[in-house]
Amino acid sequence: MTLKTNITEMFGIKHPIANAAMGPYRTNEMAIAVADAGALGMISHTNQSMDGREETALAAMKKNLDYVVEHTDGIFGFNIRTSRLTTDCDKLISETAKHIMANPKLKEQCLYALTSAGSATRMAQNPDFKKLREISQVKHFHVAPALWLAEKCVNAGCDGLVVTGFEGGGHQSYEKVGGLVLLQQVQQKYPDIPKIACGGFATGNGLAAALAIGAGGISMGSRFIASIESEFHEKYKNVVPPAKAQDTVVRTGSLGTIRLWKNKFAMAKGLVKSKEEKMAEEKAKEEHRTEISKEELMEELRKDTIAQYAVYEGDMDNGYILLGQSIGIVNQIDSIPDIIETVVKDAEKALKKAVTYVE
Ligand SMILES: Cc1cc2nc3c(=O)[nH]c(=O)nc-3n(C[C@H](O)[C@H](O)[C@H](O)COP(=O)(O)O)c2cc1C
Repeated sequence: MTLKTNITEMFGIKHPIANAAMGPYRTNEMAIAVADAGALGMISHTNQSMDGREETALAAMKKNLDYVVEHTDGIFGFNIRTSRLTTDCDKLISETAKHIMANPKLKEQCLYALTSAGSATRMAQNPDFKKLREISQVKHFHVAPALWLAEKCVNAGCDGLVVTGFEGGGHQSYEKVGGLVLLQQVQQKYPDIPKIACGGFATGNGLAAALAIGAGGISMGSRFIASIESEFHEKYKNVVPPAKAQDTVVRTGSLGTIRLWKNKFAMAKGLVKSKEEKMAEEKAKEEHRTEISKEELMEELRKDTIAQYAVYEGDMDNGYILLGQSIGIVNQIDSIPDIIETVVKDAEKALKKAVTYVE
């Protein structure tokens, strides 16, 4: 038995599962393992080179695309955060599109272009991305963490939405709406647009629920962090299995509203709210972020970047440990093929059982 949905059909994949975008960390090995398993791999927006050094997001993107396509014959994609913090955003989109067009294997396999954290139109209106769209089967999705953002994505002409609820790890909507309600809201208003549900998914029951509501698949972040293949530091992975669902907290800062694991860094950040944090809390909505002065934002960003990089070294106290509430339902580190197989089999079981309720 297989699960055939509008997402598996759209991308020509076997399983309606993707790994979530998890920049600034690298997810190349994760994407390869996910694509090899017949699901949808995702290369994250990072500026970390393969040997751990810092490089431009564009240089990293090209190398990551080349590396992933060399190591898998499966289907995958890439994420570009289009927020104003991505200063070279238009160039990044253009050059990424050109890079894909120049390589026939990339053109065949790199079919999932995901933008997030900013405007969906940045990619939709980019002339090079438009060319790529004309000559390949690439589909443009944008992350919609709120209903009004889903509307913007639809108006921008996106092929689909990644509907991300407040349970999720990392960047979150300031509106704090949980995934169950958000997905139903989006389904009510836009029943026909393909949707990947995201935030809080880690099991087959979760996948079954998402499909029952109207999504065509799920995207998982924290579940895949706790995998053998993921590039995350062993100490980062090891946080997940013993953690409880209530072990994350939502904080605001230069990156907007983010969910992270309750470590020393996260708790200190919460106890003393800086002026920047209070302002960011009020202004987290992307359009209003320009009201924070550039200097204030850059200083906050500098501190946040140090905390993000600390995790590369396995510093679990002073690092930014982005994780979602789904850590409460992940009990062990598994291989990616096993995770995907278990989630799919359990979803099939759950859906079959649900059908028996119908008379
Ligand atoms: C470590 C980490 C980094 C993330 N970075 C990004 C990112 O660069 N771009 C993005 O769109 N979402 C990012 N997210 C959000 C994820 O794409 C996704 O929404 C989230 O992991 C879903 O929740 P889950 O962890 O419960 O599966 C990040 C999440 C994590 C855990």
